[in-house]
Amino acid sequence: MVQSISRIRSFARSPFLWGIVAVALMVAGGQLALSDVSNTGQVAATAVATVGPRADEPILPLPTVVPVDPAKVRLGRRLFYDRRLSRNDSVSCASCHDMAKGGADGRKFARGWNGALIEINTPTVLNSSLNPTKFWDGRARTLEAQIDGPVQSRVEMGSTWEQVLGKLSKDDVLAKAFRAVYHDGLTVANIKDAIATFERSLITPNARFDRYLRGDDTAITADEKAGYQLFKSLGCVACHQGRNVGGNVFQKFGVIDDYYRDRVVLSKDMGRYNVTGRYEDRHVFRVPSLRNVELTAPYFHDGSVGTLEEAVQIMAWYQLGQAIEGDQVSKIVAFLKTLTGSIPEGS
Ligand code: HEC
Ligand code: HEC
Repeated sequence: MVQSISRIRSFARSPFLWGIVAVALMVAGGQLALSDVSNTGQVAATAVATVGPRADEPILPLPTVVPVDPAKVRLGRRLFYDRRLSRNDSVSCASCHDMAKGGADGRKFARGWNGALIEINTPTVLNSSLNPTKFWDGRARTLEAQIDGPVQSRVEMGSTWEQVLGKLSKDDVLAKAFRAVYHDGLTVANIKDAIATFERSLITPNARFDRYLRGDDTAITADEKAGYQLFKSLGCVACHQGRNVGGNVFQKFGVIDDYYRDRVVLSKDMGRYNVTGRYEDRHVFRVPSLRNVELTAPYFHDGSVGTLEEAVQIMAWYQLGQAIEGDQVSKIVAFLKTLTGSIPEGS
C-alpha cells in the first residue's frame, strides 16, 4: 500500500480519469431505477415518496417502510437460520451472513459445509434486494435465483434441492407452517420465495446520513459533511451512488492503475469476465454498496484489506489516481460511518 501510494502522483489529474467519471455517471444514471425490489413497484414508490429536501443529491435515502408479507418474512427467516439447507447440516445462510456482523462474516474468506475456503469475500445481505444484480460478478439477477448459488455450490452448502426438500418435508411443523402461507405448501419455489422475502425485509433505514438527506442538518457533523464533499469532489460518487451508495453499476477494479501487478491473479479476480467471457470485462466487478460498510471489514472481493482507512486510500489511488492521506482519509471514513442504518429488529 505504501509503495503504491508513492506511484500516485504521475497519474493524478489525468484527463482519462475525467472521461471515466463522466461515463460512469451516465451509466449510473441509466441504471438507478433498476432493482429487483423496484421491479415489483413497491419499495420504489416508497423511496420516491420519502426523498426530502436534498433530493438533488446523488445519494438517496432508504425507504423507512418495506411492504413485505410478515408471515413470509418469518418463514424465510426460519430457513435462513436452518442448517438443513447444507449437505451435512453444518452451515446455514446465517453462518456466513450474520446480522451482528453487518450481514457478512467478518472474515477474509468463509468456510463452507466441509471446511473448505471460499475464495471470495462474503458480501452483506443487508439491502441486497436493492442491487439489480447479485454476487460480485452480477451473475444472478434476482434474490430467488441467487439462492441456487449457495445451496448447490460445491464449497458453500454442497447440497441439492432434492436433498433439501427431502429433509424439510419430514418436518411436520415446518410443512404445516408452509401450508398456512402458501396454498401448495412446501416446494422449492416457495422455499426460495420465503427466503427472498425475508431478505427483502433486510433494509437498514434511518442512517444518520439519510436523516441529513431528509433535511436534518444536525444529523451529521461538520467533519462528516466535509467527508461527503470530498467523496463527491474526488469522484467516488461516480461509482458509489443511488439508494445503496453503489450496487448498481459494474466497474473495473484498477481503472487508473493495475491493482494486480504485484500478485498472482486468481480466477475469482477476473470478475465479470467469468460471466460474459468478454476481454474488456476482466477485473470488472459490481461496485459494492457502501451502506453499513463500517460493519463489514475486511474489504474488497479478495478480503485483502482490514480497515476502512486503507480501503479508501486504495480506492482513491487505483480508481481515481489521487494520493490522499491523513485528514482527507479520516473525513471520508467519518462520512462512510454515517451510512450505518438500523438492522430490522428480530432479523
Ligand atoms: C459458506 C458461506 C456462505 C453461505 C453458507 C451462504 N453464503 Fe451467501 N454469499 C457468500 C459468498 C462468499 C458470496 C459471494 C459469492 C460471489 O460473489 O461469488 C455470497 C453472496 C450472497 C448474496 C449476494 C449479495 C449481493 O448483494 O450480491 C446473497 C443475497 C446471499 N449470499 C444470500 C445467501 C443465502 C440466502 C444463503 C442461504 C441459502 C447464503 N447466502 C449462504 C457466502 C455464503
Ligand atoms: C470507477 C469506479 C469507482 C470509484 C471512482 C470508486 N470506487 Fe470504490 N469500489 C469500486 C469497485 C469496483 C469496488 C470493488 C472492488 C473489488 O473488491 O473488486 C469498490 C470498493 C470499495 C470499497 C470496499 C467495499 C467493500 O465492501 O469491500 C470502499 C470502502 C470503497 N470502494 C470506497 C470508495 C471511495 C471512498 C472512493 C473515492 C475515493 C471510491 N470508492 C471510488 C468502484 C469505484
